[in-house]
Amino acid sequence: MSTNENEIGSNPEAVGASSDPLRQETLHKAPQQRAPQQKAQQQRAPLNQEPQQEPAADNTHRPIRSYVIRAGRYTDAQKVAISEQWDNYVVEYEPRLFSTHELFGNDNPLTVEIGFGMGDSLLEMAIANPQRNFLGIEVHKPGVGKLLHGVAESGLTNVKVFCHDAIDILAHCIGAGCIDTLLIFFPDPWHKKRHNKRRLVQTEFITGLLPLLADAGRIHLATDWEPYAEHMVEAMEAVQGMTNANGAGQFWPVPDRPGTKFERRGIRLGHGVWDLLYIKS
Ligand SMILES: C[S@@+](CC[C@H](N)C(=O)[O-])C[C@H]1O[C@@H](n2cnc3c(N)ncnc32)[C@H](O)[C@@H]1O
Repeated sequence: MSTNENEIGSNPEAVGASSDPLRQETLHKAPQQRAPQQKAQQQRAPLNQEPQQEPAADNTHRPIRSYVIRAGRYTDAQKVAISEQWDNYVVEYEPRLFSTHELFGNDNPLTVEIGFGMGDSLLEMAIANPQRNFLGIEVHKPGVGKLLHGVAESGLTNVKVFCHDAIDILAHCIGAGCIDTLLIFFPDPWHKKRHNKRRLVQTEFITGLLPLLADAGRIHLATDWEPYAEHMVEAMEAVQGMTNANGAGQFWPVPDRPGTKFERRGIRLGHGVWDLLYIKS
């Protein structure tokens, strides 16, 4: 586990204490390529419903979050980027629709990345695809600073960022049919059983955001945590209206995406990597 607070995924409960040899053992096995799971959980939960609640110690209720805000240290470059570039690239959250045209000044296809971490993969994709727009959503502010630094240095005009909970952004800020591609790369695995409900990829969550996807819109998921890979397949196969591009229950053997920082960390620890691609049908 890294001791650098500026690194993504420094919350051990969210990312998994991979120093545990018992857990390591399971990571080297490829997950079974399985037939579609029984469609057990098909309740539709629109995104704009109140978030799930769990009782707090004081008997009030707090929403279940897929992240923990970590106190991060900032590099000088990140601090400068935040103070000088924030207004150029960061969209302040308001519970209203933002059209692609309002954000980018054009109607090019929109890729949304939830939880871009330090932003390396988002930056690489935005540089390589100037004909597309990229909306990054991340709550980890040093990561936002790192992305802003890269985006400004590269003079990109096709990137905007929300530094806010993606659940709120998808519920209130994105119009129907606006997302061409949704990316969730290496979301916090929340490995403890009692924390599994905090995982971002759930049937209800994906079902709720389907209306935001364009026709034939894509959802690309990746994880380095075997139990989460299995959970993702199960959750996605139960979504009505999405088709697995590689065949029901199958992972994407040669995914088309840049590497990410969290992925490299996983590979250093001996983890496998599993990608899934679904198309709106
Ligand atoms: C394990 S990290 C992976 C980061 C990056 N995708 C990578 O592969 O390097 C997961 C990231 O998702 C972010 N995240 C989790 N839930 C989120 C949410 N609801 N809204 C925005 N960001 C979220 C966390 O802050 C964290 O930086």
